[in-house]
Amino acid sequence: WVLMATGRSPTNIAVIKYWGKRDEALILPVNDSISVTLDPDHLSATTTVAASPSFPSDRMWLNGKEIELSGGRFQSCLRENRKRARDVEDKKKGIKIKKEDWEKLHVHIASYNNFPTAAGLASSAAGFACLVFTLGKLMNVNEDYGELSSIARQGSGSACRSIYGGFVKWCMGKNDDGSDSMAVQLVDESHWDDLVIIIAVVSSKQKETSSTSGMRDTVETSPLLQYRAQTVVPSRILKMEEAIKNRDFESFARLTCADSNQFHAVCLDTSPPIFYMSDTSHRIISLVEKWNHAEGTPQVAYTFDAGPNAVLIARNRKTAALLLQRLLYCFPPQDNDLESYMLGDKSIL
Ligand code: DP6
Repeated sequence: WVLMATGRSPTNIAVIKYWGKRDEALILPVNDSISVTLDPDHLSATTTVAASPSFPSDRMWLNGKEIELSGGRFQSCLRENRKRARDVEDKKKGIKIKKEDWEKLHVHIASYNNFPTAAGLASSAAGFACLVFTLGKLMNVNEDYGELSSIARQGSGSACRSIYGGFVKWCMGKNDDGSDSMAVQLVDESHWDDLVIIIAVVSSKQKETSSTSGMRDTVETSPLLQYRAQTVVPSRILKMEEAIKNRDFESFARLTCADSNQFHAVCLDTSPPIFYMSDTSHRIISLVEKWNHAEGTPQVAYTFDAGPNAVLIARNRKTAALLLQRLLYCFPPQDNDLESYMLGDKSIL
């Protein structure tokens, strides 16, 4: 027999960035972070997991290609789920699995992303959140979302925030064992549904420096990181929570742009320096800054992760439509600098 479960998880975009670990093995960050989870119809991972006594080993396929499971991160997610697994019974199929059987049962995992992997669009966030969620479903893990988020964290830090919709905060925690490092939902997706997120794909090529190795180099070499983590981020987190609660777009946009810029400044402060943004990314920043300045109050926020693609957050649908017009004007379709636009709201297309 084969027992299967399928799940889908969206990706999330950090507006206050996670960059730097205080514990590499457990994936514990040096500061809190806040993100917005996207609509699963656009950027998400879909994962099917199957368990069968006829599987001789654990195996995984990503977008149809088999990948090595030896990495500690997959093993951590599997191990943490197996530890919490409970009895499962499927009467129709006549399957009965005792909780202790999960230790011996191997799984096959197939996961698909509906967006370019490793283009700096945090595909690992959706992937690991989905893996943990779906394994939990298969193994009848009955933990609350906080606990699931701390398992997902051990796959990829940013994944812990994709367990929830809406705006989410990853509390860095204080404990050495990571037991208090987990995500909480600040508000659900209906709280601020005027916002429209547009992702301008500047390049879908694989990024040159992975987040994991980039942040390791930053922790080891950047003097600015200490200042950011200890002095800047704690007060920004409080202000961002307030801005989100009050749907205060002006503060939200200022904090989001400032935090993206400081994250890239910290990358530049790393030795050797890390350049995630390209000239096109810089041109997009100028476009938004000039527009916001001309309006006197921010209309659009920008944020860039570990890659050149721009995540643009418009205050409402009308602004999003204008933004799209401006982007198309500045980067006409024949301009190869910008490959395509992916929208957070289909109706704008
Ligand atoms: C720039 O979560 O991909 O997107 O924990 O090593 O897997 P690992 O890193 P990852 O880093 C994400 C970094 C970021 C900022 C963020 O999402 O907060």
